[in-house]
Amino acid sequence: MRTALKLFAAVVTVVVLAVGSFAAYVAWSFAQASVDTIGEVDFDRPLAIPPLAASTVDAQGVRTFDLSMQAGESDLGRGAPTPTWGFNGSFLGPTLRATRGEQVRVNVANRLDETSTVHWHGMHLPAAMDGGPHQPIAPGARWSPHWQVDQPAATLWYHPHPHGETAKHVYRGLAGMFIVDDEREIALPKVYGVDDIPVLVQDKAFDGSKLDDTHGLFQSAGILGDTVLVNGTPGPFLDVTTERVRLRVLNGSNARVYRFHFDDNRAYAVVATDGGLLPAPVEARELLLSPGERAEIVVDVRPGDRTVLRSTPPFIESNRFTGDKDRLDILELRGASTLRPSPALPATLAPAPDLADDTVGATRQISLGGSNTNFGKMDLERVDVVSRLDTTEAWDVTNSDGQVHNFHIHDLQFQVIRYAGGPPPAVLAGWKDTILIAPNESVELRMRFTDFADAESPYMFHCHLLRHEDQGLMGQFVVARPGEQVGTIQVPDPVDHAAKPKVSNMHGDYAY
Ligand code: C2O
Ligand code: CU
Repeated sequence: MRTALKLFAAVVTVVVLAVGSFAAYVAWSFAQASVDTIGEVDFDRPLAIPPLAASTVDAQGVRTFDLSMQAGESDLGRGAPTPTWGFNGSFLGPTLRATRGEQVRVNVANRLDETSTVHWHGMHLPAAMDGGPHQPIAPGARWSPHWQVDQPAATLWYHPHPHGETAKHVYRGLAGMFIVDDEREIALPKVYGVDDIPVLVQDKAFDGSKLDDTHGLFQSAGILGDTVLVNGTPGPFLDVTTERVRLRVLNGSNARVYRFHFDDNRAYAVVATDGGLLPAPVEARELLLSPGERAEIVVDVRPGDRTVLRSTPPFIESNRFTGDKDRLDILELRGASTLRPSPALPATLAPAPDLADDTVGATRQISLGGSNTNFGKMDLERVDVVSRLDTTEAWDVTNSDGQVHNFHIHDLQFQVIRYAGGPPPAVLAGWKDTILIAPNESVELRMRFTDFADAESPYMFHCHLLRHEDQGLMGQFVVARPGEQVGTIQVPDPVDHAAKPKVSNMHGDYAY
């Protein structure tokens, strides 16, 4: 009897201790999960400006860039060098720049010891040139995609997209901007590095001087860091020498959603989003950007001004571990004592997207949840959606779980028709390729498939929280010609009215 009691007591003790330490671990995780750097950042380093990539133009007018993916060490403010990856350097990459109508070629050399890819995020181009998981570049190999730039002026970017490894490769430092210009003369600040500034924002966690790419037990979103780098600079300041400065803000973070605003709550003008200029400037005091999204903002600066770009909550209800309690100081703008004049903001900027009145060729329901879409986990061998060349489609995309997701599609820019049950806010009135979707919300998007029919080469759509993407929250679509057969999916031929083709499958119904 006594031994039984003793045994019972021992078991109880073990259970109590186990439960207690688990509770302590949960409490500790919560404490760790909230970051506050407001007022803590020294802003003692000038913001690095990624160089414009050199290029050559041959007799045929093809503009050629060279990118080398390489490992190195960087000074990320840790007192000792941080092992990192970069393009043509040890961290991040140069800014590529080309004008609408130009033929471009990029010679990419992989000098890493892992297979990677380079994807042109936001670019309208053939699937075989897209740099997704179907275009791997082995260590030591080269890949030379080429295409004609054919889209409005925009701030795009490039980053690796290897199957299941994207988070790691981007996190180590492989990312850069690709600025597309067009012929339209528009009165916005436009001198690169002077009044037109790339602002590539990434949060990093460190383990000593090393980048820490492990993540807490509850950080289902992936890596969240307590140090924000802008263009690779920790604690950056920017000396502003003009009355207005245009910031091309790119959220190049793995998982973090930012709510950008200034410490003095000043208003600024949002002039462009992912796919280019908005119809008109939108006055804003705050702006949400999820991973992969871009916005160009124009900020008025006074002589001698000091203002800090910050990100603070609250924004969306979700769990604490997506960083939505975090308060971060990001970049200080410092106005010079005399400022050169800047152009007044134009009242209108670009034609608005025009898909709302198109005939809809197919309506698709896409849901994002856990680590897969409604088609299942990403499978390189499975095509989930076949879109017919020269049609406009409506995609209803739903975030079906309690976590933050966003939605990104390759090759094209979409128009937001409805956002979370209502008309889109003014900042979502332009062309977009990536959109934040709050837990249990839906968005209705419209896109037109105008080019590059290729039944053999899929493009991707996915959540751009990179851990989710790597885990399988990604699907594939191809653009095919009417009448083409892609796997089990027959693309209807709209000319053949007698047959009234209606392909019904889990991928959505076609009806004409
Ligand atoms: Cu920015 Cu499929 O990626
Ligand atoms: Cu996600």
